[in-house]
Amino acid sequence: MKKKKRILTGDRPTGRLHLGHYVGSLANRVKLQEDYETFILIADAQALTDHFEHPEILLKNIREVAKDYLSVGLDPEKSTIFVQSMIPEIAELAVFYLNLVTVARLQRNPTVKDEMKQKGFEANLPAGFLVYPVHQAADITAFQADLVPVGKDQLPMIEQTNEIVRRFNTLYKKVLTEPEGLVGEFPRLPGTDGQGKMSKSVGNTIYLSDDAKTLEKKVMRMYTDPTRLRATDRGHIEGNPVFTYHDAFNPNKEDIADLKDRYRKGKVGDVEVKKKLIVALNAFLEPLRERRAEYASDDKKIDEILIAGTARARKVAKETLALVKNAMQINYPF
Ligand code: TRP
Repeated sequence: MKKKKRILTGDRPTGRLHLGHYVGSLANRVKLQEDYETFILIADAQALTDHFEHPEILLKNIREVAKDYLSVGLDPEKSTIFVQSMIPEIAELAVFYLNLVTVARLQRNPTVKDEMKQKGFEANLPAGFLVYPVHQAADITAFQADLVPVGKDQLPMIEQTNEIVRRFNTLYKKVLTEPEGLVGEFPRLPGTDGQGKMSKSVGNTIYLSDDAKTLEKKVMRMYTDPTRLRATDRGHIEGNPVFTYHDAFNPNKEDIADLKDRYRKGKVGDVEVKKKLIVALNAFLEPLRERRAEYASDDKKIDEILIAGTARARKVAKETLALVKNAMQINYPF
């Protein structure tokens, strides 16, 4: 049998996952787990690079993210779900890779730059934060991933990884795999405020775990077209998140086309458009809620899945570390 290609991807466990995560990357993971050997990392060590003052949030959030994964249909038999800090080989790889990257290159990484600004790190940048792309390269290469399904903001991380892989392979020996990024169909789902992307810190998110009541409240409060004061005014579709969500989650394309048409003509009110969005989102979320309910109060089951996944993942990371040490001629006889 031909060896399956590999996927490695993951999320920081700093909160629950939301619709933006789903369309950016989770949907691809669920689809591809059938054809790829899939590894999904819960990046707790990476989360510490900007939450090092609050390590106590990790345990709860690791379990929440695991529940989010199971709720969207990631199958722990097909997808290996594991905890980053429990694979010390990843940290070891990162130590070797750190020599292959310049500080200037890290400072130019667009994602690092954005996040530094957002977190106000400019003056007191923790070194661990600056080098997290190198750790992410270790995450990806430890599993010799061919494909990395991620949100669009993560593409600079894949580019940085490829530079490290190429440098390693030419400098030592060609043992590492160059990965490719895969961005979802709606790479940057706007927040409910129609401003930037969905983001916990802004409070413009709809969570995969939101119940029907919470969802309804959030949708009814959504930003629409600020230039439209009455339902009889002509409305704008572009930049209107209510329609972006319809495109992403409402399978009834005819209904969407009709709503857009009437919206442009001033023949439908925001309320009808939002009510239909609530129906579509509930239809999407209901199966997730049902699957989540199976695990809701069963942390023991979640922990078992993580223990089994971490054991499986560690074996693969160990193989890669051995290849790397061999390539570097530091596989000493003692
Ligand atoms: N940086 C990713 C995020 O912020 C999480 C992550 C860590 C990741 N390691 C990874 C994603 C490896 C893809 C591959 O969400």
